[in-house]
Amino acid sequence: MRGGAQAHLIEGEDAEHYVVKFANNPQHRRILINEWLAGAFLKYLQIYVPETALIELGPEFLAGQRDMYMALGSRRVAPEPGLHFGSRVAVHPERVAIYDFLPDTLLHKVENRPDFLGTLVFDKWVGNADSRQAIFFRAKAKAWTPLKGDAPARTGFWCQMIDHGFAFNGPHWSFQDSPIQGLYFRTGVYDEVRSLDSFQPWLDLVKHFPTEVIDEAWKQIPPAWFDSDREELEKLLETLLKRRSRVEQLLLDVRGGRSSVFANWK
Ligand SMILES: Nc1ncnc2c1ncn2[C@@H]1O[C@H](COP(=O)(O)OP(=O)(O)OP(=O)(O)O)[C@@H](O)[C@H]1O
Ligand SMILES: [Mg+2]
Repeated sequence: MRGGAQAHLIEGEDAEHYVVKFANNPQHRRILINEWLAGAFLKYLQIYVPETALIELGPEFLAGQRDMYMALGSRRVAPEPGLHFGSRVAVHPERVAIYDFLPDTLLHKVENRPDFLGTLVFDKWVGNADSRQAIFFRAKAKAWTPLKGDAPARTGFWCQMIDHGFAFNGPHWSFQDSPIQGLYFRTGVYDEVRSLDSFQPWLDLVKHFPTEVIDEAWKQIPPAWFDSDREELEKLLETLLKRRSRVEQLLLDVRGGRSSVFANWK
């Protein structure tokens, strides 16, 4: 796949397809922890994200995969045997086209477009140092209850929020809080924003984000991903809990930093 982590598309034993980021990816081992936690938090916020999974690659399987490697300059690095991060592809990748970008006219019609507002609340909370990334595909309305707006009854474009490797400032596990980070490059997705209230119900969900959801997610992280990072992750998550009440201010900073982002927030 494209991208700095050099992820690979792998078919699992369950016949599902996964975009897999390897533990020894060129970005950092911590990227996998960030992805794992972000996936769980976004799911709690009822934002449409791929299902996540731990992908076990055994030495025998890897021995037969000559084309599965990451390129580091002129060097080829094979994935290590063990557990890796998988992001499940929601549709059959050979039957349904998946797009990294949509033209504005179609972007406007994305069925779960309000998810962009909820995801901005999330991205500000976790200090996503990357810009917002999403994928799009056509699908029938699923059994999905939106937190905002009506459940669409037709086939249309859906978007899933992806790539949370740079939550918590990526490998740095810090919060930089630049007003422009975490934004989607087509700011038309924020046209519905008229006040802080437009970010409800997600603002309140984050403000009262349950510690149990965080604990549950962190318990599932494979020990091998930690290295000697356990204490640091604990510190990071404590800071994250304290930041629950700061998100409103961070959104106000976005508006102050580049007023054109929220064109209709007068
Ligand atoms: N669940 C998924 N379903 C379909 N395609 C996906 C999924 N997850 C990732 N992809 C595809 O794989 C590509 C790489 O994924 P991702 O952006 O997470 O990797 P990355 O290496 O972290 O990228 P970056 O360089 O932006 O940090 C995406 O651009 C997207 O096209
Ligand atoms: Mg990416």
